[in-house]
Amino acid sequence: MSVLKVIAIDGPAASGKSSAARSLAEKLGWIYVNTGNMYRAATLAVIRSGVDYENEPEVLRITATMNFDCCIENNKSVARINGENVESELNSESVNRAVSFVARIPDVRNKLVALQREIGQKYSVVMEGRDIGTHVFPDAPYKFYIDASEEVRANRRGLQGQEDSVRERDRMDSTRKTAPLAIADDAMVIDSSDMTLDEVVDTVMKTLGLNGLIPAS
Ligand code: DC
Repeated sequence: MSVLKVIAIDGPAASGKSSAARSLAEKLGWIYVNTGNMYRAATLAVIRSGVDYENEPEVLRITATMNFDCCIENNKSVARINGENVESELNSESVNRAVSFVARIPDVRNKLVALQREIGQKYSVVMEGRDIGTHVFPDAPYKFYIDASEEVRANRRGLQGQEDSVRERDRMDSTRKTAPLAIADDAMVIDSSDMTLDEVVDTVMKTLGLNGLIPAS
């Protein structure tokens, strides 16, 4: 698989990776791809169908036939169901609660990973998720794992006004059998607990500069 320009950013829930990835993509003029939103959109389709999200065969029945795609608008990925942009509905409490159940199903992952690889081969991307550096693009030349203490992450979600059990999602995401949340051997780990967003982005930019991707500052 040829991987020319993929910056992989992984990390647990509410670690600050989305804000960092978005800002980084803007600075570089690259495409920002939020793979969590793809799993969230699949989950929304399951919730809308009314089936029990813990019932794997039923979830598979819905996700196998759903018309899901991900387009690029204004330099960022937009998850769609039947052509409908569903991004504004992806951070609800009900999606937070169900998403790790849907994301642990191998057939769901295969479908979304294929889409992610297609996008990464077409564009220069900053792609964030849980398994980008370990599984989706293991050959990505630039990998970061953004972490933060559990307390800081729970606080960040609270400040965003969201009900989200980050501890339970992390437990499920890091213990599932298929492509669990893990630190790639060659990823740079950034603990953002005591850092501002700008400091995180600066750290990443400096590393990219030292590795010749952009002019060193
Ligand atoms: O990044 P996020 O918190 O919006 O992701 C929502 C869920 O999607 C997360 O709890 C696990 C799943 N996910 C995944 O399994 N693999 C990814 N690459 C991205 C997200």
